[in-house]
Amino acid sequence: MANITVIGAQWGDEGKGKIVDWLAAEADVVVRFQGGHNAGHTLTIGEKVYKLHLLPSGIIRPGKVSVIGNGVVIDPWALMSEIEGIRAQGIEITPDNLLISEQCPLILPLHASLDKAMEEARGSAKIGTTGRGIGPAYEDKIGRRAIRMCDLAHPDTLRDKLEKLALHSNALRRGLGAPAINVEEFVMSLTEMAGRLSPFIGPSWRVLQDAKAQNERILFEGAQGVMLDVDHGTYPFVTSSNTVAASAASGAGIGPRELGFVLGITKAYTTRVGSGPFPTELTDDVGETLGRIGHEFGTSTGRKRRCGWFDAVQVRQAVTVAGIDGIALMKIDVMDTLAEVKICTGYTYNGQTYDYLPASADIQEKLVPIYETMPGWQSPLRGVRTFADLPEKAKAYIRRIEELIGVSAVVISTSPERDDTIRVKEFF
Ligand code: GDP
Ligand code: IMO
Ligand code: MG
Repeated sequence: MANITVIGAQWGDEGKGKIVDWLAAEADVVVRFQGGHNAGHTLTIGEKVYKLHLLPSGIIRPGKVSVIGNGVVIDPWALMSEIEGIRAQGIEITPDNLLISEQCPLILPLHASLDKAMEEARGSAKIGTTGRGIGPAYEDKIGRRAIRMCDLAHPDTLRDKLEKLALHSNALRRGLGAPAINVEEFVMSLTEMAGRLSPFIGPSWRVLQDAKAQNERILFEGAQGVMLDVDHGTYPFVTSSNTVAASAASGAGIGPRELGFVLGITKAYTTRVGSGPFPTELTDDVGETLGRIGHEFGTSTGRKRRCGWFDAVQVRQAVTVAGIDGIALMKIDVMDTLAEVKICTGYTYNGQTYDYLPASADIQEKLVPIYETMPGWQSPLRGVRTFADLPEKAKAYIRRIEELIGVSAVVISTSPERDDTIRVKEFF
């Protein structure tokens, strides 16, 4: 059976959680493959709202297996508290429906404090990270000194590993004026955590291998978005992992041929939280309207999201570099009241026209968007459940976006609610 990979095609918060939950009805296994609790995925099912950070968005559906793959960095305390919070909302979470890769690197409190200290040191050039310790944890993974889930089972060698990690970290902390790490404290609290997490920890790649052998469907759930990818995004204003679809293979432990259809989740406009270039940002009333109607506040940090017009150049580039086969166009209902809507079709800078996003942050910051203007539909789309029921002007907007980005909108979403989702084409 065909698998599916869901990734964000902009700067995150496109509505991945809603679509993963919706698609999970037809999947057997849902796998997170990168990022950590910097992600915030909101699911709305009737009266209930679930906010997920580390748990795969399939966890809400009974009978599905959720996997946190090796590419994810895990804060054990954040994970445990998320598990307890979601359990308190009536969802069963047991080793039968949640598996954590034994290869996952851990985010420790020292990473979050380093993340914050580094941001402070950057001053006005700060990235606007979520402060969760994501960057420092990935640095330690690549530096081959991370503590991993499998290490929790060996308290005898854990102290030694923590001391090696502290040696590196304390050198940095001294430079930043932060207090040194108390290794003993970590050994104790991690040993306590190990007991609670151990039933969930195992070789998750084997679960995927078994799923494949049994012809089960796997849904790969990305976090963040292509413009936050450490290679393909607006570097250095990015996260510290690869968010493109290819990352699903390495971050889950499966071959690239298993990824199936790549669905890029895309807002009908654009948002970004944190600093960094955003060519189509609107600082006027229209931006304010999108933010207010779209409730554009971060799920993880509560920060206000910056809002702007749909950037077809940016999404086309995301489609290309990430191998997106089709998009899910989200939150089109948020644009209902606008008299006219704009799409960015190119940029100019220094007398030159660009049909792509150049890599330099210095240039990205100064790009002036070229817009195409279309009439707004000015009628409520919230809850529309068939393509035929969309007003002609909204259909024209969608068609133009498809033309410019080179792939179809196979899904259209018209509210946060699970069932307010139009399947325009069969793709999964
Ligand atoms: P994710 O990080 O990509 O999962 O997205 P978030 O959950 O952080 O942010 C998307 C927000 O938009 C959530 O609050 C969703 O409930 C909401 N949402 C998703 N789809 C729609 C939609 O079609 N219309 C509206 N109005 N809200 C939506
Ligand atoms: P989901 O999965 C939106 C942004 C941060 C910051 C940059 C680096 O909900 O779409 P980090 O803490 O990762 O080092 O921060 O990335 N960022 C996100 N923005 N949605 C997310 O996740 C994000 N995760 C990180 O705001 O600009
Ligand atoms: Mg989010």
